[in-house]
Amino acid sequence: MEKREKSWKTLFFALTVFSQLKSYGAAIDAGDTLSLGASLTGTQTIISQNGTFELGFFSPNGSNWYIGIWYAKIPEKTIVWSFDNPVNTWLPGMRFGGQQKLVSWKNPMDPTPGLFSFRADPSGAKQFVLTWNKSIQYWETGTWDGKIFSKLLEMANLDKGVHVRAESRNSGFYTSITLLPEINVLPRFVLTNLGGLQINAIIRGSKWNTFWSQPADACAVYGLCGAYGTCNSNNLHFCSCVEGFAPTDNGAWDSQDWGSSGCVRQSPLNCDAKNGSTDRFVDLNVTLPNDYTSS
Ligand SMILES: *[C@@H]1O[C@H](CO)[C@@H](O)[C@H](O)[C@H]1NC(C)=O
Ligand SMILES: *[C@@H]1O[C@H](CO)[C@@H](O)[C@H](O)[C@H]1NC(C)=O
Ligand SMILES: *[C@@H]1O[C@H](CO)[C@@H](O)[C@H](O)[C@H]1NC(C)=O
Ligand SMILES: *[C@@H]1O[C@H](CO)[C@@H](O)[C@H](O)[C@H]1NC(C)=O
Ligand SMILES: *[C@@H]1O[C@H](CO)[C@@H](O)[C@H](O)[C@H]1NC(C)=O
Repeated sequence: MEKREKSWKTLFFALTVFSQLKSYGAAIDAGDTLSLGASLTGTQTIISQNGTFELGFFSPNGSNWYIGIWYAKIPEKTIVWSFDNPVNTWLPGMRFGGQQKLVSWKNPMDPTPGLFSFRADPSGAKQFVLTWNKSIQYWETGTWDGKIFSKLLEMANLDKGVHVRAESRNSGFYTSITLLPEINVLPRFVLTNLGGLQINAIIRGSKWNTFWSQPADACAVYGLCGAYGTCNSNNLHFCSCVEGFAPTDNGAWDSQDWGSSGCVRQSPLNCDAKNGSTDRFVDLNVTLPNDYTSS
């Protein structure tokens, strides 16, 4: 019973989101509605009014299935909304703020919630923040000054066809982006599984390009590599384990989900050994996080 009520709520939410997405478009097409009692199975999908978005089932790794919304016309299936879980994507035309959150995917193949989230500053400041594991804030947009967020100076050079608004309401601080029709691009704003924000867009052709990303240094993302991990953004794989340690979970580590499990000591400490310990200290040339508290 409880489960049914939950799936109802989620379905309602899905349809609400979908109808909001529909208003993103203009022309009318058939097949954009799933009526009460109707069902969607297998590879069946419904397509938004403008033909921009498609809703159906998808499977990132061919075994687990999720319901989601993606771009209908783009060959590379780009999911903009993962079911039963918060989104990692925000689209122009959607108001975002209040208690809403973008939550990262666990890894590029797994839409279940990762450790990073993006939301309006819970302290009430007129800004948006990136947070690790619901607790540690590691980046912020800077406060809204009526035109731009103070740490995003590049916003001063936005195209005239891009309108960013932000306002405080009773339910919190909100922002929205509107694109005038002459802006013939499909941008999406994504919180990646590596805890960074990106604006990706397709301008001509079918490839996504990243136009903007923050934090500027990938290693400024708190907890990216997990316990006993170190980060180097010059490496193809940013994270590695410090000397004497190895990934706790090789599967997670290989799929870039470094932070959730981190690294473990390869052999136990033996400082108490009567016949002389082989333990030693190792010099590490690393920068510690700003709010470093562990020892
Ligand atoms: C919706 O479709 C119309 C007609 O094809 C087009 O002019 C318009 O730009 C589209 N809007 C969006 C947001 O894609
Ligand atoms: C697919 O992903 C899910 C969720 O991470 C995982 O449980 C499952 O084992 C994966 N299947 C394969 C074949 O990798
Ligand atoms: C995230 O926080 C929870 C407690 O709120 C804790 O149990 C968990 O270990 C933390 N995750 C990581 C990866 O540190
Ligand atoms: C110390 O003793 C332990 C247990 O007998 C042995 O495993 C270890 O190899 C010894 N270490 C050294 C440095 O001799
Ligand atoms: C530590 O790393 C910094 C930056 O790469 C470098 O400038 C410095 O010389 C290094 N220090 C040591 C002791 O290796």
